[in-house]
Amino acid sequence: MASFLEIADDEKGYDLDHFCVPRHYENDLEKVIIPHGLIMDRTERLARDIIQDMGGHHIVALCVLKGGYKFFADLLDYIKALNQNSDKSVPLTVDFIRVKSYCNDKSTNSVKVIGGDELSSLSGKNVLIVEDIVETGRTMQTLLSLLSECNPKMVKVVSLLVKRTPRSSGYRPDYIGFEVPDSFLVGYALDYNEYFRDLSHICILNDQAKEKYKV
Ligand code: IMP
Ligand code: MG
Repeated sequence: MASFLEIADDEKGYDLDHFCVPRHYENDLEKVIIPHGLIMDRTERLARDIIQDMGGHHIVALCVLKGGYKFFADLLDYIKALNQNSDKSVPLTVDFIRVKSYCNDKSTNSVKVIGGDELSSLSGKNVLIVEDIVETGRTMQTLLSLLSECNPKMVKVVSLLVKRTPRSSGYRPDYIGFEVPDSFLVGYALDYNEYFRDLSHICILNDQAKEKYKV
């Protein structure tokens, strides 16, 4: 099973006052639960683990938009650094797909794929799917079954976060950054109705903000 860094249910997190948080979000957040620096340090190690396993073959990194874009960019930077500084290196190409399954703070039953290149171009390739967070697992399971129709050579999934929740289908990614409590998280490209992507740290949203930004 993939190793991960566990953020406990009773994790106190960090007071907002100790970090730089945009003024416009100051009253919307309960606490910082994963500071940006820790995200980066964990991502660096994930890059090493992935290259150790998948290295040797050309990798197509598939970014699941929009929530995955920060993690995708930072993970690829670390993979690039490994490629630049070791004897072994792997060619890396990128692709993007957009999915939407959330409204307010609830996962909906429909997982919509609303963009991206032709998935058929992934045929015969080693694909690394890069996702921000797995909650029920439905998004990833839908994406994996779509992808399998295109006959890639290998598919691995890396998710920065996995939520501990009774709503989980049991699906687990191949690589996991952090396992997190069952709260609604925002920041580092994770959004609530499109807000909070412009926040560096991963934070817990407060109930007031759920009302304020509700659609
Ligand atoms: P799943 O299909 O239930 O596994 O949900 C996965 C998708 O829901 C993720 O890719 C996110 O876009 C979104 N999501 C799930 N939990 C959160 C959260 O706590 N904050 C922000 N987005 C979330
Ligand atoms: Mg996502």
